[in-house]
Amino acid sequence: MTKAALFDLDGVIADTAVYHLKAWRKLIQDHFNQDVPDGLLAQTKGLSRVDSLNAILSGLDLTVSEEEFARLADEKNDLYRQSLADLNEQGILPGISELLAELRKKDFHLALASASHNAPLILEKLGLSDSFEAIADPRKVGRGKPAPDIFLAAAKGVNCKPENCIAFEDSSAGITAIKAAGSYAVGIGKQAELNADICFPDTTSVDLDEILSNWQENK
Ligand code: BG6
Ligand code: MG
Repeated sequence: MTKAALFDLDGVIADTAVYHLKAWRKLIQDHFNQDVPDGLLAQTKGLSRVDSLNAILSGLDLTVSEEEFARLADEKNDLYRQSLADLNEQGILPGISELLAELRKKDFHLALASASHNAPLILEKLGLSDSFEAIADPRKVGRGKPAPDIFLAAAKGVNCKPENCIAFEDSSAGITAIKAAGSYAVGIGKQAELNADICFPDTTSVDLDEILSNWQENK
């Protein structure tokens, strides 16, 4: 059986999720002189740039023209990319390099299923460009998370059936997407928020043997 492990990037492989949130907060402060509440910001986790901006604007009851929307999205990306300037191999979350090696040893194909258009740049900075056999391109998939499309594309990229994939995520939208794809969802974070098939509080506590035995039991 061909099996694969599909990975989200921000907040799972790299410690970059917080940079997205900081960039959104600064953008909205600069343009609208408003603070984005933590709860609203948290809802953007895993969502595409456009979906995130839509969620923030509607959460704050703000309306902008199409042109302004595009400018805001570009400016957020500029802010975000500035925060990536010093990113290097140290930015790989603890335990992840070992997890990737362990998965490879157990004959899992590895694929990336990130919503980020910046994923190839980030992988390069982390020294992980060659670590994944397939990188699903969010520009080419129809719907963003919580729809399953990016996980289905990642599974297809390594010729693996979605039901033979385990997938790692730190966002609730991402966990919903994995389950909708029919794969086994490993959450990184708080289970009360994620509702994953199995959940670990952080990347250091991920236990692959526990994941694999739980996956088999629940298949
Ligand atoms: C996801 C992040 O990985 O990528 C989201 O969790 C982000 O916060 C999304 O909006 C899109 O990223 P980018 O880099 O294309 O703006
Ligand atoms: Mg994430």
